[in-house]
Amino acid sequence: MAMAAKSLAPVLISTVFCCYAFLTPSHASSDDFPQCLSASIPCPLVHAQSSPSFTSVLVSSIRNARFSTPTTVRPLWVITPTNASHVQAAVVCGRRHGVRLRVRSGGHDYEGLSYSSKRPEVFAVVDLSNLRGVRIDKQNSTAWVDSGATLGELYYAVAQASNQLAFPAGLDLDLGENVVVGNVSSYEAGKVWGEYFRDNYKRHALAKNEIDPDDFFRNEQSIPPLGPGKYGAAGTRKMARACGRNILE
Ligand SMILES: *[C@@H]1O[C@H](CO)[C@@H](O)[C@H](O)[C@H]1NC(C)=O
Ligand SMILES: *[C@@H]1O[C@H](CO)[C@@H](O)[C@H](O)[C@H]1NC(C)=O
Ligand SMILES: *[C@@H]1O[C@H](CO)[C@@H](O)[C@H](O)[C@H]1NC(C)=O
Repeated sequence: MAMAAKSLAPVLISTVFCCYAFLTPSHASSDDFPQCLSASIPCPLVHAQSSPSFTSVLVSSIRNARFSTPTTVRPLWVITPTNASHVQAAVVCGRRHGVRLRVRSGGHDYEGLSYSSKRPEVFAVVDLSNLRGVRIDKQNSTAWVDSGATLGELYYAVAQASNQLAFPAGLDLDLGENVVVGNVSSYEAGKVWGEYFRDNYKRHALAKNEIDPDDFFRNEQSIPPLGPGKYGAAGTRKMARACGRNILE
């Protein structure tokens, strides 16, 4: 994902007034982290636990209350970069002062993993929601998408740019991954996420077989081809045997 700068609202920087939270006396080296950040990141973009904005920024993209309970281990800081240089500064300061960073992008973003911890630890969240530009290059059929953009924003931008381009997205690897049989993805195994397509799974698989019988365009959860394809009837029988039933029925 591109980490491009987008135009920013002017940000007032007042090291005297907004960095009060940074001045608390410290013993652990992580206490120097905010000061390190303040050299490169405008203070309003760094939300310490003591700051009034902290909770609203933290919960802004939490969709599942299960990951936000009184016992959830929360970050000590949330950083909301508006420029890729802020992300770089956060990484450098985190390394320097022993603060682990969790990065939160747009959308639901593997809920929980990006802003909480299972064990007590000092960490900060880099929330990329301000970096959400989508730039479509129609001629090249490419798009540069900032991490903070949601899939909906991407789909919308693509649809606005062209009625011939689309972007397929979204994987649920917890459902399973492609099982390859006879060098094509297995129709049977694919059924587990094929149900997303309701009664159309088989139709998609037949169409896939028309345009890509070798399963060349294959990813962890792509639609498998359904049909003999390049491997002919022998390939189909092999798949059928592997699946323990006639896949074409
Ligand atoms: C982002 O940061 C870079 C490097 O500090 C700077 O050159 C650029 O002007 C900044 N962009 C914006 C939009 O503030
Ligand atoms: C396609 O992308 C290349 C590389 O970024 C760029 O140089 C070229 O201008 C693009 N082509 C068009 C038609 O925009
Ligand atoms: C398996 O399929 C891929 C994609 O079509 C192809 O590139 C590769 O050569 C095939 N491998 C074998 C062993 O047939």
